[in-house]
Amino acid sequence: MKSLSEPKTYRIKSFGCQMNVYDGERMAELLGAQGMSAAPEGGDADLVVLNTCHIREKAAEKVYSDIGRIVKDWGRDDGSAPLIAVAGCVAQAEGEEIMARSPDVRMVVGPQAYHRLPGMIEKARHGERVTDTDMPANTKFGVLPDRSTGARTRRAPSAFLTVQEGCDKFCTYCVVPYTRGAEISRPFADLVEEAKRLVDAGAREITLLGQNVNAWDGEDDKGRAVGLDGLIRALAALPDLKRIRYTTSHPNDMSDALIAAHGEVDKLMPYLHLPVQSGSNRVLAAMNRSHSAESYVELIERFRAARPDIAISGDFIVGFPGETDAEFEDTLKMVDTIRYAAAFSFKYSPRPGTPAATMDGQIAKEVMDERLQRLQAALQRDSLAFNQASVGRTCEVLVERKGRKPGQWLGKTPWLQSAWFEAEAAIGDLVQVELLAAGPNSLEARVV
Ligand code: SAH
Ligand code: SF4
Ligand code: F3S
Repeated sequence: MKSLSEPKTYRIKSFGCQMNVYDGERMAELLGAQGMSAAPEGGDADLVVLNTCHIREKAAEKVYSDIGRIVKDWGRDDGSAPLIAVAGCVAQAEGEEIMARSPDVRMVVGPQAYHRLPGMIEKARHGERVTDTDMPANTKFGVLPDRSTGARTRRAPSAFLTVQEGCDKFCTYCVVPYTRGAEISRPFADLVEEAKRLVDAGAREITLLGQNVNAWDGEDDKGRAVGLDGLIRALAALPDLKRIRYTTSHPNDMSDALIAAHGEVDKLMPYLHLPVQSGSNRVLAAMNRSHSAESYVELIERFRAARPDIAISGDFIVGFPGETDAEFEDTLKMVDTIRYAAAFSFKYSPRPGTPAATMDGQIAKEVMDERLQRLQAALQRDSLAFNQASVGRTCEVLVERKGRKPGQWLGKTPWLQSAWFEAEAAIGDLVQVELLAAGPNSLEARVV
């Protein structure tokens, strides 16, 4: 391959969890600091980064079909293909295999190595194919350009801030401990600084992110040991920051202080995403979840005691190896007990290298389909009921975007519901509304 001129435009596509969205923004800032700019919508790009997810088979396979489409659709005016980089969790999990399967890929870069992209691009444009899936001891965060307002790619009122990364839990079905590495917490001072910059750039809401966000710990500005609740309290002191959220938590890392913060910190939104995966203690043990159905229910009760209106959300897996009909019924019972405001549910997907992939009793696809349908019907019933119970409430919504009709806006309630209303407003406004009518996915509102 002959050398290419320096890439001037980039496009980044992020898949998977919110942490990938955050990484995608940091990559955009990094490329921006190198003098590159985002390719215009629909236009061609010199560099395409696929920021991938490996959590389920479908998500991982998508990469390969996307690469084919990029080569076909996003070629440059002179007929050459863009430089293609595969980043994210598929890059970490499959590494060189991607190079072998896709000759068009020039770079493979793991989630802990993307701060080294500029050097990789330089090699790639001179014809090398470069893979970097190192998990260096000095994390990317120390080396990435700081989040000066100028480099920010978009000024959304709601921003993500990764505070914790990695996972030491090793649930037997899950790839994350392998793709993201061991649990680390970013330093308190760095996070406060980054939060300030996000707020200066227009953020009114910050969602603190981590694969096990509630495992975050650090030392505050006075050298005291603090947990996530301490970080939340420090961020709540930023005057222009109006809302704080955090996700995803693990039941075993929950502290009394974090529960208490929900009753004490006004800016901490009444919403908790706490995955349970199954309602059966035998399945939970086989999953290596290290909590029981009972301890989970008790934990939720404590959150509800601290903040009675808190919206609970969760994740579920149906068809884990060996799951019997009766064990699946236990999951439905869990749903009936908790009454989730929102939830994500998935069919078990065997992932290469995880213990569950080789367990006996893999469940037939038809059985999983049927269980997923029943579970989702129950979850939808409850989210509709939660939304209906909100009708008549007056609350603040954070305006996120325009609606389809003129004068119509979409905002988020404190309970993370989407609410539509008509008014004079602007993105980033906090508007007082009354909730008028509910559907399963959104509410109608009017300004009060
Ligand atoms: N750290 C978080 C999120 C992990 S990934 C947590 O512990 O909850 C998000 C969700 O994907 C998980 O909660 C789980 O429900 C689902 N998931 C993970 N691995 C899966 C697999 N192999 N098959 C199906 N769903 C899976
Ligand atoms: Fe995966 Fe379990 Fe870690 Fe969540 S806690 S990331 S499900 S291993
Ligand atoms: Fe997917 Fe990696 Fe997130 S596997 S869910 S992108 S941590």
